[in-house]
Amino acid sequence: MVPSTLTALAEERTLQASFVRDEDERPKVAYNQFSSEIPVISLAGIDDVDGKRAEICKNIVEACENWGIFQVVDHGVDAKLISEMTHLAKEFFALPAEEKLRFDMSGGKKGGFIVSSHLQGEAVQDWREIVTYFSYPLKTRDYSRWPDKPEGWIAVTKEYSDKLMGLACKLLEVLSEAMGLEKEALTKACVDMDQKVVVNFYPKCPQPDLTLGLKRHTDPGTITLLLQDQVGGLQATRDNGRTWITVQPVEGAFVVNLGDHGHYLSNGRFKNADHQAVVNSDCSRLSIATFQNPAPDATVYPLKIREGEKPILEEPITFAEMYRRKMSKDLELARVKKLAK
Ligand code: SIN
Ligand code: FE2
Repeated sequence: MVPSTLTALAEERTLQASFVRDEDERPKVAYNQFSSEIPVISLAGIDDVDGKRAEICKNIVEACENWGIFQVVDHGVDAKLISEMTHLAKEFFALPAEEKLRFDMSGGKKGGFIVSSHLQGEAVQDWREIVTYFSYPLKTRDYSRWPDKPEGWIAVTKEYSDKLMGLACKLLEVLSEAMGLEKEALTKACVDMDQKVVVNFYPKCPQPDLTLGLKRHTDPGTITLLLQDQVGGLQATRDNGRTWITVQPVEGAFVVNLGDHGHYLSNGRFKNADHQAVVNSDCSRLSIATFQNPAPDATVYPLKIREGEKPILEEPITFAEMYRRKMSKDLELARVKKLAK
């Protein structure tokens, strides 16, 4: 039975069975055992072509080649806007269940509030509540699905979406140039770039060692910009997925994740970061993920195949097809795992 909100379950002493993960999926590293290995890159001077730009671009490209995940500071998004967005998001999750459920998106509605979100057919739920805004292309904005409470949130979200679209495009320019292509190559490959903002709220959890806030995954899209609070819980992998590390939160920074689309377009040169979110029993955690995705019918195929390389995709496919294949692979893995039990 899917709970309508996690508030009541967070007060219980034991975790409801639907959230308990198999042992191999449970957290290996604590939410606050931070590692500073993931690069933190200052973007101050990125537009200064005669100055710092070359060095900044080199750092970004190296981070994408080695990790597929890094943090950016001095990114030009106003600290006041970030703090308003965070503050209003926290206020939304603190609203009574019936207020949040006015925007319930279970049953396939596009945008709004939902508890946990897990693949259809998958037995275990994530320990999180989310609220989602579809923000780009503009025609996808359905304000009837944008929570109108707390007051002012719609206006702040609009501004936040615009600013993050700008930042994402700036980062994609750097990656396009690194591939020896024109600046707009990656953005153009997205056709009419989609943007979706997902606000994640992870309440404190009675038995955090048994569950995950968000299960292990790579993001399907081109690039994701994640804002997280200072609690900690985002984990990435190294050593080909064998070792987990908890990303050190940096005040005001965005964590940048390269997704599957970015990975394929670079013919695997840029990694698609494998990551998950863990929860804890001390306090709740908030993160805001802004997904920059190609249009569903945009073509997914390497834009540049370097000498001696083979294309990592057999044929060009649409992004919708790429996503469908990813989901059916995940479902098949879940099915095989269930059968093996
Ligand atoms: C995400 O992967 O979308 C969110 C991860 C996090 O909350 O840290
Ligand atoms: Fe993610």
